[in-house]
Amino acid sequence: MAASPVQASTGLSAGTVNYGDREFALFLRRAFIKGAGLSDEDLAKPIVGIIDTGSDFNPCHGNAPQLIEAVKRGVMMQGALPVVFPTISLHESFAAPTSLYLRNLMSIDTEEMIKAQPMDAVVVIGGCDKTIPAQVMGALSAGRPFVVLPTGPMLSSRWQGERVGACTDCRRLWADFRAGRLTQAQIDDANNHLVPSVGTCSVMGTASTMACMVEAMGLTVPGAASAPAVSADRIRIAERSGYAAARLAKGEVVMPPLGEKQLHNALATLLAIGGSTNALVHLAAIMGRIGIRLDPQAFNALADQVPVLVDLKPGGEGYMPDFHEAGGLIRVVSELQEKMVLDLPTVFGDTLQQRLNGLSAMVAAEVIRSQANPIYPSGGLRWLSGNLAPSGAVIKPVAASKNLLEHTGRAVVFDGLEDMARRLDDPALDVNADDVLVLRGIGPKGAGMPEAGLIPIPKKLASQGVRDMVRLSDGRMSGTAYGTIVLHISPEAAAAGPLSLVRNGDKIRLSVREASLNLLVDSETLAAREKESWHEHLPQLAQERGYGRLHAQEVLQAEDGCDFRFLRKTP
Ligand code: FES
Repeated sequence: MAASPVQASTGLSAGTVNYGDREFALFLRRAFIKGAGLSDEDLAKPIVGIIDTGSDFNPCHGNAPQLIEAVKRGVMMQGALPVVFPTISLHESFAAPTSLYLRNLMSIDTEEMIKAQPMDAVVVIGGCDKTIPAQVMGALSAGRPFVVLPTGPMLSSRWQGERVGACTDCRRLWADFRAGRLTQAQIDDANNHLVPSVGTCSVMGTASTMACMVEAMGLTVPGAASAPAVSADRIRIAERSGYAAARLAKGEVVMPPLGEKQLHNALATLLAIGGSTNALVHLAAIMGRIGIRLDPQAFNALADQVPVLVDLKPGGEGYMPDFHEAGGLIRVVSELQEKMVLDLPTVFGDTLQQRLNGLSAMVAAEVIRSQANPIYPSGGLRWLSGNLAPSGAVIKPVAASKNLLEHTGRAVVFDGLEDMARRLDDPALDVNADDVLVLRGIGPKGAGMPEAGLIPIPKKLASQGVRDMVRLSDGRMSGTAYGTIVLHISPEAAAAGPLSLVRNGDKIRLSVREASLNLLVDSETLAAREKESWHEHLPQLAQERGYGRLHAQEVLQAEDGCDFRFLRKTP
């Protein structure tokens, strides 16, 4: 199945406001925009919209002003008219209660403003985790040609002699602080060094994963996934993005239709780069906009074939600037050629094969391995199922402790984040290192699916040197995090999923080899517990009015990308 997002537009005269007199509406539109100093000659050109998501609350997009200037230059070099307009901007740390909760709002904003305003093509500038998914979802649904321009990753830094970067090291150092290995003064000092520049997180977290995936889908110009936010490469990529969008606007390049081949490339890339679990949620949402559902069996079969080649944190050692120096995404494609679709047309008018042909000889790169020497031979991510996750769950084995991938343990259950915060560090908590920590009530309906799946190790165990345990939840985990963490359990507990039936002391079995997650409790006991309707005791997101109400009524589960029911295209 393939869906063409291309829809004819006719420059300034497209989609006039409905006054009942189209000519007057156009007359008025021309008069107003001339107030900004534009001429009839300018207005006769094809229009390229440029979405500005710069915000003082979003340092991951702190280079947006420079990128916009470069995009404009590229658009004008191709004889089109650039027009900049804003949409919502989401930063992970400044979007309460969670940025995923607001992702669909951003996608609606993106879609409606592209449709409402006259433009023949659009460059969407995004980067921080939820922004690229929201923009691709919105632009696909708007049906106009588009080019994705990631803002690019931040630099890495050094603290006390060791290399650090947001935000795998943020979590590692915080865990050290919790365990008493760092003092308050040390953790405060580290805070000054973890984010050394604007740009997205400097590891293979969700932002970089999404940027790599959209490049592999042909939605960006070459090299767009990895050039640092504050590099000359990034500015040149921005200029090229404007150039590409102008050619789409003029009809010199046709917007490639999105379909199964792009999905394949995105999934193969996700696996090869050891990317974020969040990307599966976002990809499900993106593909849902064109009527395609992800297939768990097909995903696991692909995961069995694709090795993890990229040695970046959180699973490995390097940082995104290393990845860019090693050749970036196209170097990964080069190592994985027979497992990817190379004849895909891109928004730049070329194909991945042509990009490969132009690949110069690479310097020896530790961070991008060959298939003969992978970081992990296969199975970078695994889609789980079982009686505890009838609609699925996800684990990232490459970021997990190998000795915990086959594990049976006693459940220690927390009902939502407040309950966990209250009891987790209580010295009286009945918990051992081989127990399974269960956090429920943080799914899409329960809490907007926050990145809280990385349940901290209880203090009394952390201080004994315990660094990892099997942890389960219906929430998500930051792409910058690591550990033996099962996420996205579906249906979530707040929607009466089997997770709501777990009780302290139950045995839970995780088998990554068998791709299964099971609650070892007999069916009669579970049937009796169902009558308790424990999910009704779990916290629920406020749903009295406004967007929260819309979210509560319409949000789907993780396997459908947590999109709103009415935004998806019916297959
Ligand atoms: Fe923006 Fe990590 S916080 S990409």
